[in-house]
Amino acid sequence: MIQLNNLSFSYKEISALSNINLTIHKGESIALIGANGSGKSTLLKLINGIVFPSGGSYMFDGKEITEDSLEESKFSKIFHKRIGFVFQNSESQLFNSNVYEEIAFGPKQMGLEEEEIEIRVSDCLKLLDIEALRNRTPYNLSGGEKKRVAIASVLALNPEVLILDEPMNGLDPRTKRFIRELMLKLNASGKTLICSTHDFEYVDGVFKRAIVFSKDHTIIRDGLYNEIIQDEKFLIENNIK
Ligand SMILES: Nc1ncnc2c1ncn2[C@@H]1O[C@H](COP(=O)(O)OP(=O)(O)OP(=O)(O)O)[C@@H](O)[C@H]1O
Ligand SMILES: [Mg+2]
Repeated sequence: MIQLNNLSFSYKEISALSNINLTIHKGESIALIGANGSGKSTLLKLINGIVFPSGGSYMFDGKEITEDSLEESKFSKIFHKRIGFVFQNSESQLFNSNVYEEIAFGPKQMGLEEEEIEIRVSDCLKLLDIEALRNRTPYNLSGGEKKRVAIASVLALNPEVLILDEPMNGLDPRTKRFIRELMLKLNASGKTLICSTHDFEYVDGVFKRAIVFSKDHTIIRDGLYNEIIQDEKFLIENNIK
């Protein structure tokens, strides 16, 4: 479904990804692991079509994702409907006047019927347990509440691939457990999960596969999550633990 070939990316002269080769299949649950600055967020942005390779290629379902291919509005719409991205910082994805409108925004953009939009928003409010926030202003919510609204707004498009950038950051333990359960549920329902995290304590059992980045912005290990996470020596050597 997702294929990265010899991919590299730099922000002007600053290298962020180097020589990345990666294949991700439908339904996988993958953790991206690596020290600060190793390139996890950049890779997630790239998969979501926010930045584009400086070298190599990114194929999604056999079609190359480039600035040009995403300029084609029909393709871009389908692509962005299929991949949902929950940013590390919820503020950068909340911009509507109330929570209802925030969650309805994506479905409205997709041109869904008013009735269908109502159903989707209600379902997502329920799924994230934020029905009480329906008429609140996203801007004034707490960090954890914002995170739930951001996830609801992404799920309202019913994406096949869900990308989360450090979703547990700054959440209280109960909310972390809630997000863990939600990730399990979404993956069990067939969604592909790709998630960067440093919060190993709270994601137990969620991921089958781990992809580990080194400080050189390349993949140093790709394997079973449970095996990698138990390899203390490797994790310490790579500033992950
Ligand atoms: N907008 C940007 N402009 C210039 N350099 C950037 C930008 N964003 C990230 N970088 C650099 O790219 C590299 C990879 O950063 P990235 O944010 O992908 O790391 P990360 O693995 O997500 O780190 P963290 O665990 O701290 O979130 C770092 O060296 C970083 O300084
Ligand atoms: Mg990051």
